[in-house]
Amino acid sequence: MSLLDQIDRTKLPSHIAIIMDGNGRWAKKRGLLRNLGHKSGAKSVKQVVEACAEINVKYLTLYAFSTENWNRPKLEVELLMKLLISSLKKELKTLQKNNIKLTTIGNVDSLPKSVHKELMDVIEKTKKNKKLTLSLALSYGSREELIKTIKEISLKVKNNLISPENIDISVINNHLYTRNLPDVDLLIRTSGEQRISNFLLWQIAYAELYFTEVLWPDFTKENLFEAILNYQNRERRFGKTSEQLN
Ligand code: FPP
Repeated sequence: MSLLDQIDRTKLPSHIAIIMDGNGRWAKKRGLLRNLGHKSGAKSVKQVVEACAEINVKYLTLYAFSTENWNRPKLEVELLMKLLISSLKKELKTLQKNNIKLTTIGNVDSLPKSVHKELMDVIEKTKKNKKLTLSLALSYGSREELIKTIKEISLKVKNNLISPENIDISVINNHLYTRNLPDVDLLIRTSGEQRISNFLLWQIAYAELYFTEVLWPDFTKENLFEAILNYQNRERRFGKTSEQLN
């Protein structure tokens, strides 16, 4: 039986988040420039997005560019931005065909104007799509997101729009970039690294973590199905006992 056939469609993770890591190492192994690793990584993005739409995962969030990534060599950043623009232009039809809505999380105002413009164009054109919400984390950092949230809530407290006693999980959720997304169910990181790197720290409170040695440009639909099957074999207790769940 194929991996796809083994997936229980009634127990799918609603929200998958991915730290796409290993593009540089993939390129280095082949004696190529790092940016060819990113270019090849864009092909894995397409595969995974299509696979999520195919099996009916509702939310997919991809860590495409972190706040810390601005510190990479200028040329690498420039080429990554170019790749983003060309991927957005090229894949608009894939998004439309598969009924996928594009959104972003992060400080997108800090992106170059040309990237921002292309992004807003695709977001606008896909805003009515319903099958899958694809969120690209761009210039995203979880600590910055939390600082922004705390500042916004503090201002509301100062202006008597909210009282401190009423600050709860939902108030915080509603101020995050992810306000329209559910909590993450499954977080995948490729390339053998086992850390979170400032990604969705609040939103992964009860996520299942899945680490694979596969480098991102080698990551295929089948690898995604493997991760989902692994997820489906876990018991999510949310702090309860096994007996309570049964
Ligand atoms: C991490 O690999 C990857 C990134 C910083 C960028 C992710 C970008 C893509 C997958 C390309 C295109 C994206 C979209 C959304 C079209 P790394 O460079 O840190 O790899 P290394 O750890 O092996 O050096």
